[in-house]
Amino acid sequence: MNLKSKIKKVFKIYPFYRFNPYITNFVSHPNKSFILHMLYSFLCISINFLNSYKKNRVTIFFNKNGFYKKIIKEKEVPYILFNLLEKKLNTYQEIVYCHLNNFTYTEKKMSNRDNQQFVYDIEKSFLNKIDDYIRSDKDFDMIIKNYFKSEYRIVNLRIWRYLPGSKNLDNEKVGAHYDRFPHKTVKIMIYKGFFGQKNPSLEILDAEKNESLIFSVRGRDPIIILDSNHLYHKANLPKVNRDTIEITIQPAFFDKEPLFGGFSSGHPYNPFKKNSKVQIN
Ligand SMILES: [Fe+2]
Repeated sequence: MNLKSKIKKVFKIYPFYRFNPYITNFVSHPNKSFILHMLYSFLCISINFLNSYKKNRVTIFFNKNGFYKKIIKEKEVPYILFNLLEKKLNTYQEIVYCHLNNFTYTEKKMSNRDNQQFVYDIEKSFLNKIDDYIRSDKDFDMIIKNYFKSEYRIVNLRIWRYLPGSKNLDNEKVGAHYDRFPHKTVKIMIYKGFFGQKNPSLEILDAEKNESLIFSVRGRDPIIILDSNHLYHKANLPKVNRDTIEITIQPAFFDKEPLFGGFSSGHPYNPFKKNSKVQIN
């Protein structure tokens, strides 16, 4: 591949960026963290510039649509995390919003949600397990490397149960939206249970065409990877308890150790900085 086509690939505008207000928002509201992330991602790409990541039908599908879904097999790692959720929700947990400094997080929004129950602390061994799981899954590993054009790391892991009812009606729904993460952040969502036409988990909508449906996450124990900054999406209210695993992934240089910010955390504010533990009294 010649230099010109390499450069073209780095600055590629993917088809699913089409209707997205992301770039205009970014220009009108410059954000220091996002700028640092762009610079960081660019350096990650530069290091891997001569590396060409393998393509297949799955990476081609993701690069066109911005998502890819499949079904988890029985006895795979996500079940270990769903069991951890069950165990933690049955024992006393201290609420910790954010475990690491240099992380973005919100206190108010999440604590108002009385229909979501979280795991507040996740031990390192579980983070390593899910990290190995993603890296050993050829589809996901290839999709991420192809899209980032670099190595990657998990920057947050959230495990929670979404309950069908809430006392506070305002908090029940997660309406259609774009996420506001730094550019080139992807999410992996895993849902436990069966989801059909009448009880889909996540839906991807067309913001331009009256929120018409593009894709509905259905089937038993689905797992989906998506660029949630660029796809208009909504989490439907569950009909029965919905156990969920959410993994946030960003580009990385050499340090690929998974991070756990916290249930209410977003992403490292400055990707160049070390993320040390917040002292909790
Ligand atoms: Fe979202």
